[in-house]
Amino acid sequence: MRDGAHRILQISDIHLGADVNRELLGVKTNESLQAIIRHIQERQTKMDAIILSGDLSQDGSATSYKRLASLIDVFNVPIYFIPGNHDNQQVMRTVYPFENILDNRHILFGDWQIILLDSQKPGAVEGHLKATELQFLRECLEKYPQHHAMIMFHHQPFNLGCTWLDKLGVTNAEQFWQTVENYSNVKVVFVGHVHQEFFQQIKNIPCYAVPSTCIQFQGCRPDFALENIPPGYRWITLHDDGQLETGIERLPHYIGRFDAKAKGY
Ligand SMILES: [Fe+2]
Repeated sequence: MRDGAHRILQISDIHLGADVNRELLGVKTNESLQAIIRHIQERQTKMDAIILSGDLSQDGSATSYKRLASLIDVFNVPIYFIPGNHDNQQVMRTVYPFENILDNRHILFGDWQIILLDSQKPGAVEGHLKATELQFLRECLEKYPQHHAMIMFHHQPFNLGCTWLDKLGVTNAEQFWQTVENYSNVKVVFVGHVHQEFFQQIKNIPCYAVPSTCIQFQGCRPDFALENIPPGYRWITLHDDGQLETGIERLPHYIGRFDAKAKGY
C-alpha cells in the first residue's frame, strides 16, 4: 500500500442466531463467520478499521450480538456497525459499544471521512433514510468540506436488475442522491443487504455492494434464488489524494450446504 492509505474491511449480513448452530438456508452462519475471520487473519496483514454493514443478527437476540463481539475480538482495530433490517437496534445498543466495537457514525482517517447512516425502517425489509439521517449527512459534509467522503449504509439506493430485491432498497433513494449531488467531496457509497458483489456508477459516484458472510443471492433475476458462490467480504483502500481501491475476497467454498431449491429467506 502507498503511504497515506487507510485500509478498511466491510463485513456484512452475518445473520448470527442465538443458537450457535442455527442455519440459514443450509449455511451455519456462525461457522461461516468464523471461516471469514480466519481468512482475514491469514490474508489481511494491515487494516485500520472494520465496518459491519448490517444484519449482524438474524433474530436480533442479545446472545447473537454478544457472540459476535467475542468472535471479532481477535482484531485489534476499531470496529464500527450499522443496523440492517434484521437487527434489533434496542437490543443491539444494550450490547454495543463493547471493547473495540464502537458506535461512532463519523470517522476521520487522514484526508477521508467515513459517514455511517441508519437506513433501517422499523418492521420493514425495505429501507428508508429518515430526514434526521439526511440532515446528519449534510452536517458532516458541510463541517468537513475538505475531507473526501465515503458513505455506508445497509440498504441499496439503486436498482440491481433483480425485481424482488429492487423493491427492498432505500425507498427514498432519490432524496439521498439529491442530497449528495450538492457536495463534490462525496467519493463513494458502500452498502450491504443484497448478498452479492455489485457495482454501479450513479451521478458519477461509484456504488458498491458486498457479498454476505453466509448465503449469496443470485443477481439479475426477477425472483429469489441463491447463488452457488462462496461467502466473502470487501476490502477498501482509501488514499489521501482521494483515490480509492476496493475488491472482494471469498472463501474457497460454502460453509454448509448450498440449497439450490431455496425460494426465500
Ligand atoms: Fe442480509
